[in-house]
Amino acid sequence: MKEQLEALRQKALEELEGLSSAKDVEEFRIRMLGKKGELTGLLRGMGSLPAEERPVVGQMVNELRALLEEKLSAKESAIADAAKAEKLAAETIDVTLPGEQRKVGGLHPLNKTLEDLIDIFRSMGFDVVDGPEVETDYYNFEALNVPADHPARDMQDTFYLAENLLLRTQTSAAQIRTMENRKPPIRIICPGRVFRADEVDATHSPVFHQVEGLVVDKGVTMCDLKGVLEQFAREIYGPDTKVKFRPSFFPFTEPSVEVDVTCSECGGKGCRVCKGSGWIEILGAGMVHPRVLKGCGIDPEEYSGFAFGIGLDRLTTTRHKISDIRLLFENDVRFLDQF
Ligand code: PHE
Repeated sequence: MKEQLEALRQKALEELEGLSSAKDVEEFRIRMLGKKGELTGLLRGMGSLPAEERPVVGQMVNELRALLEEKLSAKESAIADAAKAEKLAAETIDVTLPGEQRKVGGLHPLNKTLEDLIDIFRSMGFDVVDGPEVETDYYNFEALNVPADHPARDMQDTFYLAENLLLRTQTSAAQIRTMENRKPPIRIICPGRVFRADEVDATHSPVFHQVEGLVVDKGVTMCDLKGVLEQFAREIYGPDTKVKFRPSFFPFTEPSVEVDVTCSECGGKGCRVCKGSGWIEILGAGMVHPRVLKGCGIDPEEYSGFAFGIGLDRLTTTRHKISDIRLLFENDVRFLDQF
């Protein structure tokens, strides 16, 4: 009986070592310690033993049972730990993986430039006003010192809707509407779409954008115009930007200038963007013509003013090195995504 027990002990411990799953452990437990198990079987055989040996063998059986139970539960938790570790390793989340990108809309580059521009002029005390896209001949030309049959009308090819009704060719109409409605001091900008019967190409579009500016007060001079425009150019293109005023002609300003800034691409050396000149023309400006002031009921002896018209599309294309103005209007998301 003792030998049988010893043999069972050897066999059981050996088998136990080799167990590798929870299922194996359970099967082993049933096979050894269950009601019909091998150890239980041995125990049944005790009846045939002499009375004095029974307690000794009984104790040995109990010891073996206790030992196996202890080893089994140790094995069980080792297997459970290993399974857990394996599961954790398989389920590891790599927090350094880049997340899935969610596309959100953004401002159109034209609107972005306009917002920057509005910020700059607001900080200099300008109000933002709006004006109609469908204008009368009076506001678009007449009141701006461009009478009918004046050759200056040829400068801008106009879309007429009716005899006296047209799509505004310039935001300058806002000058007149503002002066009719406000008393000096006046400091406004008026951004908006303008329309000219131009052929479409890389630098022309029949619809484009201007930002009109108007300042009227006592003692306003060309120096004020220069100061405001230089400040504006530096804030848009950077502090090293130089500004050049070239004499020009507009019927509603006298004197008139066209304003160039040093090319933001090459810094003035000459490149593709500025067509080799080192300069980019961004706006027209001048001192408001006394006749225009008078027509709006403002005494040119008492007040003076300056006006400017910024080409917003050109400002945007040069700033972002966009080679073709049409890209601004096609709304191809692959293009717009880049801003
Ligand atoms: N309206 C002019 C143009 O479209 C620009 C301009 C505005 C010039 C204001 C002088 C003053 O060309």
